[in-house]
Amino acid sequence: MTEPVKKLRLAVLVSGGGTNLQAMIDRSAAGAMSAEIVAVISDRPDAYGLRRAEEAGIPAFCVDYSAFASSELPVPGDLPIDLDELDSRQRILKDQDMPRRRARLARLVLAEHKLIEIIEAHHADFICLAGYMRLVTPYFIGRFNSGGMRRILHIHPALLPSFPGQHGYEDTFAYGCKWGGITVHFVDEGEDTGPVIAQAVYPIWPEDDPERIRARGLRLEYEVYPQVINWLARGSIGFDELPGGRTRVLVSDPGYAVILQSWTRQAFLPEQQ
Ligand code: GRF
Repeated sequence: MTEPVKKLRLAVLVSGGGTNLQAMIDRSAAGAMSAEIVAVISDRPDAYGLRRAEEAGIPAFCVDYSAFASSELPVPGDLPIDLDELDSRQRILKDQDMPRRRARLARLVLAEHKLIEIIEAHHADFICLAGYMRLVTPYFIGRFNSGGMRRILHIHPALLPSFPGQHGYEDTFAYGCKWGGITVHFVDEGEDTGPVIAQAVYPIWPEDDPERIRARGLRLEYEVYPQVINWLARGSIGFDELPGGRTRVLVSDPGYAVILQSWTRQAFLPEQQ
C-alpha cells in the first residue's frame, strides 16, 4: 500500500488574472494536487486573482505596494533588517543612485514585512509566485530559504535562462525562436536565476503571433506548476550542488519520462477555439 501523501500548505502570490491560481484551485479541489491553498496575496487591490480566491473560499489579502511607494520613507530603525547589509546582497535594484536605491529597497522591505506576516500566520510550507509582478528582496527570500530549505517557487513564461524579465512570451516570439518554453524554478536572489525544477516546450508555427504562443504556453503552465507541487509533496525533489556554485534540481519520479512526453504531446494539440 502506498503511503498517503501529506498535503502541502501553499501561499499563492498574484498580480493579475490568476489563471495559474485557478488551475491550482481546480486541481486541488479535484484531488489532483497534493496541496491546500491557504492564502492568496496580491500586490494590487484590483487583481482578479483575489476574486478567484474569494470565490473558492480561500483567504485573500492585498498588500498594496503602491501605497508603500508613496508613503513617507521609513527611518532605518523602523525596518526589520539592516538596510546596508541588504543593499550589499540584493541583485534586483540596479539604480546607481544610492539614496534612491536605498529608498526603494526600504519601501519594498516594508511591503514584504506585511507579506511575511500573512504567510507565516497561515503556516504556508511553500510560496508560489504565479504572475506576481514584483521582485522580492533577500529579506523576503531569507525568511523562507533558511536552513538549506528553498520554499519560494516561481513560474516563468520562457525557457530560462533565455528571456528573463516580464515579457517572456513576447521576447521569445520577437527573437524568432522556433520553440518556446515555460519554466518553474526556485527563487534565488537574482531575477529569474534560481534553480530550474521543470520546463516544458512548445513549437512556434509560421502563422503564430505572441497571443497564440501565450495561449499555448499557458496551457503548459497549468500542467507543470501543479506537477511540481506534487513532486514537492511526495519528497521527489533533491539537490545537487555543482562546482561553481549552481544548484541542480533532481526529480526522482518513476513516471518522469512519461510526464515530460505528455507535456510535449500536449504542446502539439490544436488550440480550442
Ligand atoms: C504567466 O504567464 C506566468 O508565467 C507569468 O505571468 C503570467 C500570469 O498569468 N509569470 P496568470 O495571472 O496566472 O493568468
